[in-house]
Amino acid sequence: MSGKITILGFAGSLRKASYNKAILNAAAELLPPDVELKIFDLEGLPLFNQDLESEPNEKVREFKAAIRAADALLIACPEYNYSISGVLKNALDCASRPYGDNALSGKPVAIMGASIGTLGTARAQYHLRQSCVFLNMFPLNGPEVMVALAQDKIDAQGKVTDPGTRERIGELVKSLAAWTQRLRQG
Ligand code: FNR
Repeated sequence: MSGKITILGFAGSLRKASYNKAILNAAAELLPPDVELKIFDLEGLPLFNQDLESEPNEKVREFKAAIRAADALLIACPEYNYSISGVLKNALDCASRPYGDNALSGKPVAIMGASIGTLGTARAQYHLRQSCVFLNMFPLNGPEVMVALAQDKIDAQGKVTDPGTRERIGELVKSLAAWTQRLRQG
């Protein structure tokens, strides 16, 4: 692999002890050489209001600038009611507007998710992939990282303790770096 790659990661949960924040932190520990992961906290992003889209507040501007500065994105996607969380959907809406100023367009993206259920955010991840089509993002197809029964794999300090989960997260960031290089080459 040639050239440094910067990844921006964000989790669609505001919860302090979020399992999705935990898997993002695990990704930061499992990076291949020449890959940097910056984590953006979605706390404080306003609810999207189309009346105000031409005058985005500072947090929205900061988010869009961080996306644009990154070579690739890593999204930790919780599952709420069989879909993506409102926090994540709102973040995508904020980043994609106003029309013609979609910061997400053309970005390589890897998706992962953790839930306390047995399907590990599978349903939410496929909904997220659907939004990626309209947003003109380039999602990595695999490996799929769907952390089911997260309460058994992440400890009270937010450390991912399950070796298989750590291995898959490591594979995901490695594959995202390779995917980003591939897209860079055109
Ligand atoms: C959930 N949860 C959940 N889990 C799941 O596997 N499928 C689902 O459809 C839902 N739905 C759902 C809705 C709402 C409103 C909440 C608050 C929770 C449980 C969810 O997996 C759990 O709360 C995770 O801990 C959420 O992710 P974070 O906050 O730990 O990152």
